[in-house]
Amino acid sequence: MDHRFRFQHASSTRVRIAAGAEAELPEAVRALAADDVVVCHDPAVAPLAARLARALAARAVLPVPGGEQAKRWDEVGRLASELLRHGASRGTALVAIGGGSVSDLIGLLASVWMRGVPLVLCPTTTLALCDAALGGKNGVDHDGCKNLLGCTRQPDLVLGDVDWLATLPDAPFREGFVEVVKKAAVLDRACFAELERLAPYLRARRPPAVTEAITMAVTMKMAVVQADEHERDRRRWLNAGHTIGHALESLAGGTLRHGQCVAMGLIAECRAAADVVPAEVRHRLEALLGSLDVASAVPPALRDPAALWALARQDKKARQGRVPMVVPRAIGDGVVVELSPERLAQAFG
Ligand SMILES: NC(=O)c1ccc[n+]([C@@H]2O[C@H](COP(=O)([O-])OP(=O)(O)OC[C@H]3O[C@@H](n4cnc5c(N)ncnc54)[C@H](O)[C@@H]3O)[C@@H](O)[C@H]2O)c1
Repeated sequence: MDHRFRFQHASSTRVRIAAGAEAELPEAVRALAADDVVVCHDPAVAPLAARLARALAARAVLPVPGGEQAKRWDEVGRLASELLRHGASRGTALVAIGGGSVSDLIGLLASVWMRGVPLVLCPTTTLALCDAALGGKNGVDHDGCKNLLGCTRQPDLVLGDVDWLATLPDAPFREGFVEVVKKAAVLDRACFAELERLAPYLRARRPPAVTEAITMAVTMKMAVVQADEHERDRRRWLNAGHTIGHALESLAGGTLRHGQCVAMGLIAECRAAADVVPAEVRHRLEALLGSLDVASAVPPALRDPAALWALARQDKKARQGRVPMVVPRAIGDGVVVELSPERLAQAFG
């Protein structure tokens, strides 16, 4: 796919995702008219980052810690010092190469470094291609809370090459598709049915299926973000599975990946709102996650309604003690309900 999405305040994002798109990166970055670039990357994709840095004649190449541990405020400060040391300026574009942790962190850095510089995201996980690199939310974790510090700022370019996924292990590869399942479950019935058809091919990592699922994810997400960039209403639908999912992720203290937690969160939220979500809707969701080979049962050690409630109340989505979550009342038709200690007890009862 290749599309330019426009937002308020004249910002826009070009999203280009295809097999072989890597070759187009230098030209696409040139079109941003930046003075030069600094590459920031996950160590897991160091050879790719070195190749792209050469192609872009990067001023510097900065590795950042891999995974969720990258999302720390002191990491933003450390990288800002590195940019200063390497002579980066207001005209320097930052190119982030890695999964959602790297794009969340570098998105924040690009927003605050010199009050904002051009930002290019090169997502290297299915989760980042299906969700994290899109929509301009960025941030870091703080005091045990997910994404507590951050802002909304659209990247100028998202360029992803599905060939970059070749080195991603199977489990995170499959879990990334939970973010497209989540969207389809509350937004688009036809996409959900198509995902049910594609699931065996996604599990087998077949490129046409992977590209189709990512394209569906981009289309669903960007339609919502363009209509409600700052999450005043419709964008909340994209948080399905994330109310309990984020609480589980915080409670697990880094022992579970984001995609695993969202899968568990999706099913736990359906159970918590069993008065709104028909059992057959939950069963269809469980079956789709199962055919993607993604576990959705919460480990016994994390079935702690009191601890999860305390974490959910601290989440950004909570307002004045009320904790909204979006659940499917039918496939493709989400509705906002409120989480409560009683509902949490019901989810894990
Ligand atoms: N901003 C948003 O809108 C948004 C949306 C969804 C998720 N997120 C965030 O994204 C993060 C999760 O993203 P993720 O699942 O991409 O995780 P990640 O960035 O932590 O990457 C997962 C693991 O894969 C490794 N990795 C990355 N690319 C690789 C590759 N091509 N080959 C081999 N290994 C590779 C990383 O080193 C890491 O260990 C969470 O912090 C979540 O909060 C943000």
